[in-house]
Amino acid sequence: MKKIGVLTGGGDCPGLNSAIRAVVVKAEEFGFEVVGIKYGWQGLINLDLESLNSEQVEEISSWGGTILGSSRTNPLKKEEDKKKVLENIKKLDLSCLVAIGGDDTLGVANKLHQEGVPAIGIPKTMDNDLFHTDYTFGFDSAVSVSLDALERLRDTAKSHRRVIVFEVMGRHTGWVALFTGLAGGADWILIPEVPVDLEEMCNHLKKIRERGKLYGLVVVSEGIELPQVKEKDKEVDAFGHIILKERGVGELVAKEVEEQTGFETRFAVIGHIQRGGAPTVFDRILATRCGIKAVELIKEGKFGKMTCLQGNEITAVDLELATSEQKKVPQKLYELARTFFK
Ligand code: F6P
Repeated sequence: MKKIGVLTGGGDCPGLNSAIRAVVVKAEEFGFEVVGIKYGWQGLINLDLESLNSEQVEEISSWGGTILGSSRTNPLKKEEDKKKVLENIKKLDLSCLVAIGGDDTLGVANKLHQEGVPAIGIPKTMDNDLFHTDYTFGFDSAVSVSLDALERLRDTAKSHRRVIVFEVMGRHTGWVALFTGLAGGADWILIPEVPVDLEEMCNHLKKIRERGKLYGLVVVSEGIELPQVKEKDKEVDAFGHIILKERGVGELVAKEVEEQTGFETRFAVIGHIQRGGAPTVFDRILATRCGIKAVELIKEGKFGKMTCLQGNEITAVDLELATSEQKKVPQKLYELARTFFK
């Protein structure tokens, strides 16, 4: 009997449980056994496991977080951890390892595949920055939460005739900020893909006030570059990424707006609130389709692949290709958003 190991790695996001459920139910249909690996790659180092069956996952599709737990453990950082992972995969007699994660987790899956491990990746991330898939699950849910927050901020900004700068997550890409700002009618959006021009933005905020709109909403992505931010001494995670919330770009932009315009300005940072709660319908369906596809690939003996959404089709690309580049917001889409900076 084939035995599949499944893990969730990196930052959690809504939809992970829908994907786990799909893997388990489809695997059972094919007569495969599923073993859940706890807390991402850490569980493969420590052999922290939980066997999974369809009864256990019956109700989890609507749950936030991940029943398997997650971590940002990088098993390739230390040679001894990598050795343990490879040994444990053998010891467990896994026919395939399904890694549900973003670029870091899938990057590890790809490296392990190159070492001979039959691996399949399922893309998830609220950042939506994985290449070769139109969307990653977790993104739609995260944007829905930040859109709700932006609409609440509009009420208070309007009542007090203030500018509110709203900082959202997104790491090195501005998908969350762009979709939140575009859907919520922000007056300006700052994303890492577009050079920041605070003077131009402040002039615009002054212009809208002159025409009678007495408040302003700015959405800013945590990863934008500002001259005030010095990256050198910042803390990094196991994959070497700077912990972006420490940069405080929302606060810095708000200070600059108050100085340049004289308007009373506040900032709000949504942070991990975006990652919690039930997945949206879109994310549940996308995660479910990816989970099913992963097990189909295993049945066909196709490894080293990442499931992906292209148009309305769920298909697969090589993990190597999928993890070779980040998906950035195209300039054209930002220009579209600018149409509404009026
Ligand atoms: O990659 C997802 C993400 O939520 C990013 O948007 C954010 O920068 C990062 O994770 C935060 O990581 P952590 O949960 O480790 O603080």
